[in-house]
Amino acid sequence: MKHLLKLEDLSCKEITGLLNLADQLKYEQKNGIEHKVLAGKTLGMIFRKSSTRTRVSFEVGMYQLGGHALFLSSNDLQIGRGEETADTIRVLSRYLDGIMIRTFEQSEVEEMAEKGTIPIINGLTDYAHPCQVLADLMTIREHKGALEGVKLCYIGDGNNMANSLIAGGIKAGMSVSVACPGSYRPDAEIMKWASENGKFLCTGDIYAAAENADVIYTDVWASMGQESEAATRRKAFKGYCVDNSVMNAAKKDAIVLHCLPAHKGEEITQEVFDTHADVIFDQAENRLHAQKAVLVTLLK
Ligand code: CP
Ligand code: NVA
Repeated sequence: MKHLLKLEDLSCKEITGLLNLADQLKYEQKNGIEHKVLAGKTLGMIFRKSSTRTRVSFEVGMYQLGGHALFLSSNDLQIGRGEETADTIRVLSRYLDGIMIRTFEQSEVEEMAEKGTIPIINGLTDYAHPCQVLADLMTIREHKGALEGVKLCYIGDGNNMANSLIAGGIKAGMSVSVACPGSYRPDAEIMKWASENGKFLCTGDIYAAAENADVIYTDVWASMGQESEAATRRKAFKGYCVDNSVMNAAKKDAIVLHCLPAHKGEEITQEVFDTHADVIFDQAENRLHAQKAVLVTLLK
């Protein structure tokens, strides 16, 4: 594994290896066992979009691993003024040991991997959010004891989260169902691949999707960059809310996950969020451990 661009690129074995390493690093951190295996290494973190969890967990993760992280806002870099991605990555490859980038186009992340000479980590694009899904799989495994055969139901926009959850969930042997409005479906190629390689359902019926689910997952209706579509989307997604009736369709011991930030009252009710908050914040914490596993695997 040279980069983390999207989960489709990883084998099932590589995903399991990352999750096992994440569990080990979490155990070591909780027990005060130092693991400064990236001493002397520097990670650049380029952000073209806002972030709380991704920025802080990568920065803290590099510190705990003995390395250093540099926050690089695109507003301050020359790429914000039009310097080519190809030139930027060729320069940054001379200074840094790895780059985490959050941007709009998946093609920018892929281009960095092609033109640079250091590992590239996708910290979210419009297409994918692989770091989040590694933390999600880690959280599901912690709470359900396994991934294989566990049913994951995603309700809402067929966005970056939906794409990566389908890819990661199917690779991990989970059964994946998605409920979303007809014009907001996940990526067609990922859905085709999922239907051919595992147990996958995409429907407009939230109750059919949630039936007997072990995990209910949701995300915002309007992602970063779609702020101007918020009103239209609010209408389109009416009825795609994780509420008590959805939870009644799922298994009694189903957990709820949300990548955060949440818009309570839209994709999830305040009540469901509050009832499942402990697991949702475990999930947020696991960003740190899962990304440390990615950093150790790519940068060591
Ligand atoms: N879930 C997630 O990626 O959060 P941030 O946007 O705060 O990084
Ligand atoms: N779909 C959301 C995820 C945020 C972590 C977005 O792209 O804004």
